[in-house]
Amino acid sequence: MTANSLQELYVEQLQDLYSAEQQIIKAFPKMIEAAQSDELRSALKEHLEVTRKQASRIETICQELGEDAQNEKCKGMEGVLKEGSDLLKEVSREVRDAAIIAAAQRVEHYEMAGYGTARTYATLLGFPDAASMLEQTLEEEKEADQTLSELAEELNVEALEAGENSEQESEQGSNRVKRSKKSVARGKRAA
Ligand SMILES: [Fe+2]
Repeated sequence: MTANSLQELYVEQLQDLYSAEQQIIKAFPKMIEAAQSDELRSALKEHLEVTRKQASRIETICQELGEDAQNEKCKGMEGVLKEGSDLLKEVSREVRDAAIIAAAQRVEHYEMAGYGTARTYATLLGFPDAASMLEQTLEEEKEADQTLSELAEELNVEALEAGENSEQESEQGSNRVKRSKKSVARGKRAA
């Protein structure tokens, strides 16, 4: 599609986001299934429900514009999700939850960029209702990202410790000094 005006660009962005949400709805159940932590699983499940609502908000916005929501394939989200599913095939059980969080946070950030843009266009074009719906979705994506960051604090450290334990097992008899609490905290902050 060639967009010749900000409004056409806005519609194109909405369709792109709609495609992204549809792809997430398809991909998330696999991530939920792969997650080992109950907390992570329920956070992902909750976000899947929220995602369905977000997709229907875009349908409403497009309907009011007389446009079809389904008109684009978001190649960016396709790539982000493919990278995530490839990653999950490559990781061991010990770091799987950390990898799921890494993949899911990429998804959230990609969406946050798109919704921020669409919300700004809606405001500029004089669609305050659409702008507030898009703002609501943007806030939900930020919340999901925040929840994942909080879960990462715990689960990334578990992954770190699981790695250390298996290293220690293979270094039986060596008097290797355990990592200080300080370095674990540093790992937390890097999450
Ligand atoms: Fe979303």
